[in-house]
Parts: sequence; C-alpha cells; structure tokens
Amino acid sequence: MEIIIQPTAEAATEIAARIIAKLLREKPDAVLGLATGSTPLRLYQKLADMKLDWSRATTFNLDEYTGLPREHPQSYHSFMWENLFRHINIRPENIHIPDGNAADIPAMCADYEKAIRDAGGIDLQLLGIGSDGHIGFNEPSSSLASRTRIKTLTGRTRSDNARFFGSPENVPLHVVTMGIGTIMEARTNLMLAFGENKAAAIAGTVEGPVTADNPASVLQFHPSAKVCLDEPAASQLKRADYYRWVYDNKPDWQSW
Ligand code: F6R
Repeated sequence: MEIIIQPTAEAATEIAARIIAKLLREKPDAVLGLATGSTPLRLYQKLADMKLDWSRATTFNLDEYTGLPREHPQSYHSFMWENLFRHINIRPENIHIPDGNAADIPAMCADYEKAIRDAGGIDLQLLGIGSDGHIGFNEPSSSLASRTRIKTLTGRTRSDNARFFGSPENVPLHVVTMGIGTIMEARTNLMLAFGENKAAAIAGTVEGPVTADNPASVLQFHPSAKVCLDEPAASQLKRADYYRWVYDNKPDWQSW
C-alpha cells in the first residue's frame, strides 16, 4: 500500500486529482469506479476545473440507496450529476450507477457485474471509508469475496449519514453496493480519508490485521492501493513517519 499523508485534505485531494488526470491523459478510454459522500466532493470540483477529456471514459459508481427515487436530492444518481457529471463531457451512456429501484435487485446486480466485465474491468476505483471501515457499503462482517448485492446499513453508518437526511431514521436501511471482491478486481484502488473520525478505521486498514471486521483492511492484499490522507486521518498510524519518508523520497519516475 502506498500511504500519502498531506497536511490538509486540500493537498491530499490535489494528489488524487493528479493521479486521475494522469490516467485519463494516458488512457482516454479509462474505466473509473467512483464514490459518493463528503470525501470526494473537493476532488470532483478539481476534476471539473481541470477540463479533462472524459468523452471516451466510462464510469461505474460503487453504490446506491434502495427505494429512493433517482430524483431525490440524496440519491447517488442526483449526487453524481450535481457534483461531477454535469460539469464534464462524459457521455451519459457511459455512466453506470446501480439501480436501487430495480424490480429484480439480484438480476440488476448480476447485470452490473457483467457491465463492468464487458467494459474491460475498472482501471481505477476511487474509495472513501466509513468510520467503521466500510468500503462501498460493505459493512463490517461483509464477505471479503462479495460481489455486487443488497446490504443492510449499520446503525453507525445511518448515524454518520444522518447529516444528509435530517435524522438516522430517514437514512434508507438498504443499499446496493459493489462487493469487496468486485472492488479488489480494480487495477488500482485510490482511497481518500479526511478527519479524525476516520483515524481508527485508517489505522486498522493500513496496520491492523486483515479482517472482515474492518473491510477496508482487505486492501493490504491489493497489488496497487494508494491511500491519500490528511493529518487527522493519519493520526493513529504507528508508522506515519516512515510513510512520509517514503513519499518524500520517491524516485522521479514514480511521481505524478
Ligand atoms: C460512498 C461510499 C462510502 C463512503 C463512506 C464515507 O459511495 O461508498 O463508502 O465513501 O461512507 O463517506 P463520507 O465521505 O461521507 O465520509
């Protein structure tokens, strides 16, 4: 894992934006996996400002609530259009977001997996992390081999997301999410985490045992996982000085 610790979320986001911009320049038909939530908001703003060419790119979002109309302001369809898609030149037919209102959820999930395969797999998957270590909406105890499917949110995640819905009870109970096995097949995983609220989950992800109790820890098995952190999110890492040292001494050919 490559651990990149920056003084601020702004600086960490800048690095993530450079990684994605480089991919899109080198591979204009790249397949990107995207995330929602507070963490990538700055990144999407930066990517929009960079005026990159998305005309040949394809995207797959990690997850969506079930039972929320697409037009609901908190649906991840609305989130993605509002915060990224309407600002870039991506073709609508190249955008994929799980359909949380599908009549047959398992069939929709199987089709989603097939669409990822048919697109040639995901080149770079962007990830946030829940305070309980979830990636996508793979809550603790999720199978580390799971595929796209329906999941039930924990009380903690519903409380964390209550800020978007007014109260925890208004946060949908069920979601559709790419599985951990799906995420692990992305060629690169790029995780962003900001704030002290994420510090324990990040310490477990990077330095803890690999365990379904902290689903993000499975990234220790991924051949190309990068984790961009601000100082508060990095504050419980035992080897933070080493990660800074590695980053500061990267050979030129490895920098973005
Ligand atoms: C969202 C997603 C989630 C979030 C996580 C953190 O698509 O997959 O795993 O990344 O819940 O959310 P924020 O960024 O709001 O703290």
